Amino acid sequence: MLLPLRTLVLAGLAQALPNAEPGHYLESRQFGGGGFTMLRFGCAQVVIDRIDPLVNPGQAPSPHMHQVVGGNAFNVSMASTDVAQLADCTTCSYAEDASILLSNYWTANVYFKARNGTYKRVPQIPNRELFSDKYTAKTTGGFVVYYVSPGKGKTTAFKPGFRMLVGDAANRVSKNRKLQTCFRCYNADNFGGDNAAPCADAKLDTEGFPTTACPGGIRSNILYPTCWDGVNLDSPDHKSHVAYPIEGPAPFSGTSIAGKCPSTHPVPIPQVMLEIVWDTRPFNNKADWPADGSQPFYLSTGDNTGFGQHGDYVFGWKADSLQKAMDDAKGCMGASCGGLKAQEAAVGNKCAVQSRVKEDADGWMKALPGMEARVV
Ligand SMILES: *[C@@H]1O[C@H](CO)[C@@H](O)[C@H](O)[C@H]1NC(C)=O
Ligand SMILES: *[C@@H]1O[C@H](CO)[C@@H](O)[C@H](O)[C@H]1NC(C)=O
Repeated sequence: MLLPLRTLVLAGLAQALPNAEPGHYLESRQFGGGGFTMLRFGCAQVVIDRIDPLVNPGQAPSPHMHQVVGGNAFNVSMASTDVAQLADCTTCSYAEDASILLSNYWTANVYFKARNGTYKRVPQIPNRELFSDKYTAKTTGGFVVYYVSPGKGKTTAFKPGFRMLVGDAANRVSKNRKLQTCFRCYNADNFGGDNAAPCADAKLDTEGFPTTACPGGIRSNILYPTCWDGVNLDSPDHKSHVAYPIEGPAPFSGTSIAGKCPSTHPVPIPQVMLEIVWDTRPFNNKADWPADGSQPFYLSTGDNTGFGQHGDYVFGWKADSLQKAMDDAKGCMGASCGGLKAQEAAVGNKCAVQSRVKEDADGWMKALPGMEARVV
């Protein structure tokens, strides 16, 4: 029997769609073969605590709350040494051997401030599953970490003791650095509107907190600099030893690190990006927002603008494992590198650090932890 042409065309489309419409710009790209590497792996929360071994070493409590992922060597202070020797478990997945992923990454938490003046911590939800990586969608708390290199021999991996900071916790105004840290306002459940590269969507991405309610929650992206001075593992402000390319932060492409490094920081390093999904959906009731309609979210620093979003990084990959991954001949993609195995999500979720500062992190609070003195 001959089917009408229209039926045939529609049937053909239905078959083609799952490939033609993979649902995310990264999955629609032609990966593989080029030797470029885009590692993307989920990391569960290792602790939520008011300590910061990079900016406020030895202080417990430090000025504001952080959420931390990665290895279990995270502590009030962390000696500038090979962190991979100090940790023995990690909350991050990885294809080769999860026990090499002992770095720590941490950011400010997000809180909702209700109209009655009390605060509640906004929980995170696991990021979307891409590249068939089952681990990421099963993490408790935490966030996703990316490492990108344009190809074999193109980037120099961090050395033991390396650490850096991006963003400025005290900043409250736009610095035209949307490509450095941004917020994406999901327009529907299931990561609705997640089409453009991080921080590159003209409508859904903003440098500060979104000003309207986001039906699908809010995502943060924090992108670290990609050029290094080639000498210093750290610097007094934890920033000056690294830099963005001459033209400034480039859009995250997943395949390249665009832009030439300045002569002061001539060494290209892997691009590290953090991606955090905040479940703000339970806090979208306008009756609970400020009476003037302004947005109700705060970073744990007391920042209601979002311009003070920042990310800390302490390198802790074992031996030369990061360099090997960045130089993989075929290129590593998602959480698979060389076709080897990831740890089970249940194992990563169990890796944890005891919080050092005992205080309420999850109830309705009269003030943000550490901000009591500033509340009238
Ligand atoms: C964390 O640091 C404290 C001292 O500041 C030390 O007593 C403790 O053993 C450290 N914990 C870990 C897991 O390294
Ligand atoms: C403040 O508002 C929140 C959200 O409506 C509510 O859950 C909480 O119980 C209120 N707290 C007080 C002290 O009224």
